[in-house]
Amino acid sequence: MKNILSPSILAADFKILGQQIKDVDRAGAQYLHFDVMDGVFVPSISFGLPVLKSIRSASDIIYDVHLMIVDPIRYIKEFVDSGADIITFHLEAAEDPAAVIDEIHKYGKKAGMAIKPGTDVKELLPYLDKVDMILVMTVEPGFGGQKLIPETLEKIKSARELLNDKGLDTDIQVDGGITKDNLNEVLEAGANVIVAGSSIFIGDIASNVTQFLGIMGS
Ligand code: DX5
Ligand code: ZN
Repeated sequence: MKNILSPSILAADFKILGQQIKDVDRAGAQYLHFDVMDGVFVPSISFGLPVLKSIRSASDIIYDVHLMIVDPIRYIKEFVDSGADIITFHLEAAEDPAAVIDEIHKYGKKAGMAIKPGTDVKELLPYLDKVDMILVMTVEPGFGGQKLIPETLEKIKSARELLNDKGLDTDIQVDGGITKDNLNEVLEAGANVIVAGSSIFIGDIASNVTQFLGIMGS
């Protein structure tokens, strides 16, 4: 399974966002993580459709959109039209998660399903055959710069076991508090798509990306 780095622009310097997107792309990151927060599903508000549309042309990297919004089915088409390649929504936020996956697939895009630290991985079971990526949150969603919750490592392992039992090699993304120091642990637990915000955008971006990719062997 391929290891993939998805820098989260939540921690970027928005004065020079286009340049920083080019920096992570040139340094070899494969995805760009775009966090959408609605102030309802999570306490914070980040950015949305017009920002995605505007930065889409900064790079042809894969735009990995993480929707932290209630009732996400309402906005799938608009995120597709604004340039999303992968759309991940929260299981807890959707009335009919299977319908959201179908809606994303209808536009030929990849569908990810996220769970918060308090949600049992078994709740993903009915959707494992349909979904292209699972996102195991390693912090409570809503803010960058938090510390990884150690108990989430077991959840990554359980998610990988559930997939293995079904003979699936679906991507497992992890998001929140990932650093060069705990990267090996999440990889060993079974994650292969790594989101990192502050560990990439604070300091020397190119060097951070190179060091992450080095540890990830990709
Ligand atoms: C948090 C977001 C994350 C955030 C991660 O709710 O989903 O993508 O940007 O930031 P760090 O890597 O700083 O924890
Ligand atoms: Zn995220």
